[in-house]
Amino acid sequence: MPKYTAAQKVKQFVGLAAAGSLTFSGICTYKQDETFFRGLMRSLHVIDPEQAHQISVFLLSKRINPRCQLEESEILKSKVFGREFSNPVGIAAGFDKHGEAVLGLQDIGFGFVEVGSVTPLPQDGNPKPRVFRLSEDEGVINRYGFNSDGHQEVYDRLRQLRDTTQLKTVLGINLGKNKTSVDAIGDYVLGVQKFGALADYLVINVSSPNTPGLRSLQSKEELSNLIQEVIRHRDKHCPDVPLLVKIAPDLSSQDKEDIAMTVLDPISRVDGLIVSNTTISREGLKSEHAKETGGLSGKPLREKSTQAIFDMYKLTEGKVPIIGVGGVSSGQDAYEKICAGASLVQLYSALVFQGPPVVTKIRRELKEVLEKEGIKNISQAVGSAHR
Ligand SMILES: Cc1cc2nc3c(=O)[nH]c(=O)nc-3n(C[C@H](O)[C@H](O)[C@H](O)COP(=O)(O)O)c2cc1C
Repeated sequence: MPKYTAAQKVKQFVGLAAAGSLTFSGICTYKQDETFFRGLMRSLHVIDPEQAHQISVFLLSKRINPRCQLEESEILKSKVFGREFSNPVGIAAGFDKHGEAVLGLQDIGFGFVEVGSVTPLPQDGNPKPRVFRLSEDEGVINRYGFNSDGHQEVYDRLRQLRDTTQLKTVLGINLGKNKTSVDAIGDYVLGVQKFGALADYLVINVSSPNTPGLRSLQSKEELSNLIQEVIRHRDKHCPDVPLLVKIAPDLSSQDKEDIAMTVLDPISRVDGLIVSNTTISREGLKSEHAKETGGLSGKPLREKSTQAIFDMYKLTEGKVPIIGVGGVSSGQDAYEKICAGASLVQLYSALVFQGPPVVTKIRRELKEVLEKEGIKNISQAVGSAHR
C-alpha cells in the first residue's frame, strides 16, 4: 500500500468529492430530478435575475439542457386553432424574446414555444435593474419594456430554424410595438408581414404593462380597428396563420365584455385569446421587492388569471380557444385553468423557481388528474367548470 502525506489525502478527498458531486449533478440533470433542480434554482438565485435568465437562454440555445424523458401520451394531445399539439404545456412569451432557445425549450418538453415579444426595430428596453424575484411569494416582477433584437435579427434566426428538420414543436411569434412608435397598428402589421410565413400562430400583445399606452389598445374601438387592420394583412400574406390576442388580467367586467364582443364580431374575429399577461396588482405580497414597478407574474397571479379565463370563456361562449397563463406550476394548476376554459396552458415564472423538470412534472401530473377523473382526452375537460 503506498503511503500518502496528509496534504495528498486532503487533495484526494477533495478530488473524489468533486467528481462525486459532478457525477451526481450529471445524473440528476440527465434524469431531470425535481428536488435537485429546485435546490439548484434556489442556489442560482444569488445571481442577478437578468444574468441568470441570460445564462439559461444561452445554455438552452446550445442545447446544454436536460431532455424530457416522458413519452407523449394520447390523453394530452389536441388540435387547437387548426394546429396539432403533442402536449398542452407551452413556454410563455418573454422567456425567449429573440428566438434563440427554441430547440432547447423543445428538448425540455414544451409542447409549444412562443417567441417574443418582438418589436419592428431593435430597442434596449428599460434601464436595469428591471426584473426581480419575489422568492417568498414565488413570483416575479419585470419591467423589461420590450428589449428586442428587432424583426430582422429574429427573422433571420427563425428562418434558419425553419430550414432545419429539428423543429418539431409548434412555434408562436408574439408581436410588440416600439416604444417611440406613433403608429401602433403599423408596427403590428409589419410583424404580420415579416413573420407570417414562419409562425404557426401569431400573437398581438396589447397587454404588457411596461410600454406606455399599450394596454389602452384593449379598449373597444382601438382593439376593433387594430384587429381589423391586422386581419386584412394576415389574410393577404398568410391566410392560414391563426391570429391570437393577449390580454391583461386587470380588466373591468365592461372591458371583458367589450373584448368578447370584438373578438366574436365577424369583422374582427380572432382565432384565440391568451389570458393573461402580468398584473399591476400587488395584493398579498410578502417579498422585499413587492413595491417595484412592473408586471407581476407567478403564484400571486394564478387565481386572478384563472378567473379571467373563466370570464372570457363564458363571455365568448367557448367559441374562441384560450391559452391560459399565469402562475401555472403544477398539474393541478393547469387542470384548473383547463376546467375554467383554457385549451392550452403556458408558464414562465415556474421555470425560475423549479427549473426545466417543471415541464415534465406538469405533464405527468396533468395526465394523472385527467385519468383519475375518467377523462379520455384533454379536450373533453376544456370549460368543464361551466357545465
Ligand atoms: C421576465 C418576464 C418577461 C416577460 N415578457 C413578456 C413579453 O415580452 N411579452 C408578453 O406577451 N409577455 C411577457 N411576459 C408575460 C408572460 O408571457 C406571462 O404572461 C406571465 O408571466 C404569466 O405567466 P407566469 O405566471 O407563468 O410567469 C413576461 C413575463 C416575465 C416574467
